[in-house]
Amino acid sequence: MTYEDLPDFIDDRKRKEDLVQIDEEVDTYLDMTWILSEEERAGRGRSILFRHPKGYDIPVIGNIFSTESKMNDILGDTPFNIGENLRNLIRPPKESESMIGRGLEMIRELGGLRPKVHDRLPGDHIVAEKVDLERIPVCTTWPDDAAPFVTLPVVITKDPVTGIKNAGMYRMQMYDSETMGMHWQIHKDGSRHFQENSEKGKIMDVSVCIGTDPLTIFSAVAPLPEPLDEFSFWGLISKKRMDLVKGQSVDLQYPMNSEIVLEGYVDTSETRMEGPFGDHTGYYSLAEEFPVFHVKKIVQKRKPVYPTTIVGKLWHEDVVIGKAIERLFLPLIKLQIPEIIDMNTMEEAVFHNMIVVSIKKRYPGHAKKVMFSIWGTGQLMFSKIVLVVDPDIDVHDRKQVIWAMSTRIDPSRDVVIIPGTHTDSLDHASSLFNYGSKMGIDATRKWKSEGYDREWPETLQMKKDVDERVQDLRKNLNL
Ligand SMILES: Cc1cc2nc3c(=O)[nH]c(=O)nc-3n(C[C@H](O)[C@H](O)[C@H](O)COP(=O)(O)O)c2cc1C
Repeated sequence: MTYEDLPDFIDDRKRKEDLVQIDEEVDTYLDMTWILSEEERAGRGRSILFRHPKGYDIPVIGNIFSTESKMNDILGDTPFNIGENLRNLIRPPKESESMIGRGLEMIRELGGLRPKVHDRLPGDHIVAEKVDLERIPVCTTWPDDAAPFVTLPVVITKDPVTGIKNAGMYRMQMYDSETMGMHWQIHKDGSRHFQENSEKGKIMDVSVCIGTDPLTIFSAVAPLPEPLDEFSFWGLISKKRMDLVKGQSVDLQYPMNSEIVLEGYVDTSETRMEGPFGDHTGYYSLAEEFPVFHVKKIVQKRKPVYPTTIVGKLWHEDVVIGKAIERLFLPLIKLQIPEIIDMNTMEEAVFHNMIVVSIKKRYPGHAKKVMFSIWGTGQLMFSKIVLVVDPDIDVHDRKQVIWAMSTRIDPSRDVVIIPGTHTDSLDHASSLFNYGSKMGIDATRKWKSEGYDREWPETLQMKKDVDERVQDLRKNLNL
């Protein structure tokens, strides 16, 4: 199912007894998100609705993506099945299938691709009399954060050359009641639009939707190839056409179900220090110069709900989002890098810092080819360490991975370091912001054609008949 909007998601949580409603006043400074965090750390991950944030009259919902089953509800299926369906879209007809049948199937699948654009705001929306961001219950999540940050905004921009829309999730620091930081990192689409506008010396329109249906929030995080915009992706998954409405003061369209929309602009000649902010990495991301967003108009529902999240340590919901992205995009990644059997973007390594892939090696040097493909594919480019293993290793089993890594490599031969590369903007370990190095580890068995002149030993395996006999024996001996 696709939720109509955020309140529809909240109602469903209520029905599924997965919602805690808190009537007491709770502070948006640290307390609120720490309650969410502790709920996740305790392993329950129920969604929590704070009905009375202290000092505000807009309720706050958190832990929207905090469990795998919730994620499946939001997507309407498992991420893996959705990924398989997407890959299936470009499947040619089988011999047994008629072209027309296959064509009709594709039309059905692609039916949601084009959003419906409406001229007028729906009846339950109003334009706020005054721009005042201080009325929104934006949370502070970690003690040394520079300010409160909007952590789940859907930031909408448009490519000034092609006109293709983009919706990206980039956190936003509150500067004052009308201005915010715009933390689109340099590799992301929002930043590319900024650069293109900047070359033309332009001020760019931006709209920020706070509180859409959760699938839209997920779509804004999804690493999509540029021509596919997030609203069409939403339509591909939900098989419905998204309802967009034209902005009041910006030349942009945004989801009609948004709780709060900030319409405004970014002046491409202006930057300001943004951060620090307690980040996905478990550290504060350092303060850096980023663009500034000026709010011109606030459009909102009469009774909006504000969504929040806390990122920071392993048990937080960004891990659930990251894993869903890995599983959903794996079938599509395999289209580009077909030798990949499985992959694990490791949450302990904050996803981008280490990826393990298993491949069936076909030719000498194949593992390195896969490393280079990963560094050249979409947001997989951020992978700092790429570890390639043989198909007998389950990439999700840390013990097997470390066994392969320590028994199948000769470091001077199998570890490659590529200096002078791009890095993830959140990588504080590189000496320069956005610039560092990569490491590839080839932990596949080595071949003579790769210069290995000894005999590679077989891995230990019991004979099948002995195993079967012993299993029977164990049963008889009550072992
Ligand atoms: C909770 C959360 C917060 C995020 N914050 C940022 C951010 O501040 N800046 C950023 O560039 N990416 C951030 N990301 C990652 C982007 O949303 C992600 O890379 C997305 O694909 C970017 O969209 P784009 O490719 O359209 O630019 C965040 C992701 C999550 C789940």
